[in-house]
Amino acid sequence: MTLEALFQPLAVGAIHLSHRVVMAPLTRMRSRQPGDVPQAMNAIYYGQRASAGGLIITEATDITEQARGYPGAPGCYSPEQLAGWRAVTEAVHAKGGFIFLQIWHTGRISHSSMQPGGGVPVSASAIPAPGNHFTRTFESVPFETPRPLTEPEIGTIVEEFAQAARNARAAGFDGVEVHGANGYLIDQFLRDGTNTRTDGYGGPIANRVRFLTEIVDAVAAAIGRDRVGVRLSPWGTFNGMADSDTGALFDYAATELGRRGIAYLHLVEPRADQTSDTNAIHADAPDASSRFKPRFGGVIIAAGGFTGETAARAVSSGSVDAVAFGRLFIGNPDLPERLRTGAPLNRYDRSTFYGGDEHGYTDYPALQQQAAE
Ligand code: FNR
Repeated sequence: MTLEALFQPLAVGAIHLSHRVVMAPLTRMRSRQPGDVPQAMNAIYYGQRASAGGLIITEATDITEQARGYPGAPGCYSPEQLAGWRAVTEAVHAKGGFIFLQIWHTGRISHSSMQPGGGVPVSASAIPAPGNHFTRTFESVPFETPRPLTEPEIGTIVEEFAQAARNARAAGFDGVEVHGANGYLIDQFLRDGTNTRTDGYGGPIANRVRFLTEIVDAVAAAIGRDRVGVRLSPWGTFNGMADSDTGALFDYAATELGRRGIAYLHLVEPRADQTSDTNAIHADAPDASSRFKPRFGGVIIAAGGFTGETAARAVSSGSVDAVAFGRLFIGNPDLPERLRTGAPLNRYDRSTFYGGDEHGYTDYPALQQQAAE
């Protein structure tokens, strides 16, 4: 099958892509310590994965110290971090690529050893995630019961997202992606399995979506709506997420985001389980993109277990506009070129996904290197 559909141009807010093979946000936990500072190998890694007219979305990046939940994940709030990111954006722009910074707050998916002052993590409500998390030193311990945020604290975090977006633009990013997916703080507000608040941020769907839309409004006011994307994972259960009416919740959220005219909505398709090697394990799950695209009305990027063939088919069908690839991009720095030419793909090594050094990070060969060997 020809993958031609992936190699058509696409306007995404303020940027114009020349193809639709997007690099998905991928936490790799390789920032310089202490300080969560992007370092030289991070710039090499992103530069390797840049392509002319292609879009990279960075790994999830802490907006503040309180947002931290994964040791080694980078931040975007200190001058050192922003200088580190500047080298990343320059490496991507040097190849004619675009790069958005994914900004997050992990909420309850954290541990007091990573929190300012050693306090317990925060969330919408005092409901711990199931299972275990790691501490700052990678000890596995049960999740702690988080502390519900007060309304003034919520207002502060909204403003911190806006500041993170300003910082991103100052460091050369083309835009930001607000991380509303995969069970982190925004998702904890969205779903009634984790949000039992009785104030204006809990209860009816409109209240639970408010935190998200306040953040999007503040970020759009800070850097322009045409430089803002949002990632959501309807039907995703990662990090212990559940809602009593997922379809209605995300219909409303997609409609509200559509009204705001942001650059794109990035949907994690529920069929793929990023924690296992098996693709399409939830093959009977609803197709998020075709359901929410009409509600949103703008550019949809879909992610989750795509191959070149299934991505091209999805774009041809009109239910998605571009496809983000995660694991295939880890193993294939030149994934767009490989898909375009039908070249074979390198296998990725799961054991080096999180943490460590250049091994399993910047040493996957590009086609040119392989030809020379
Ligand atoms: C992820 N994923 C992810 N998602 C996100 O929104 N922010 C992140 O920082 C990360 N980090 C991350 C790390 C690693 C190692 C993996 C494998 C996944 C999810 C990712 O963006 C994507 O949605 C899934 O990997 C499914 O797509 P693929 O891998 O099937 O193309």
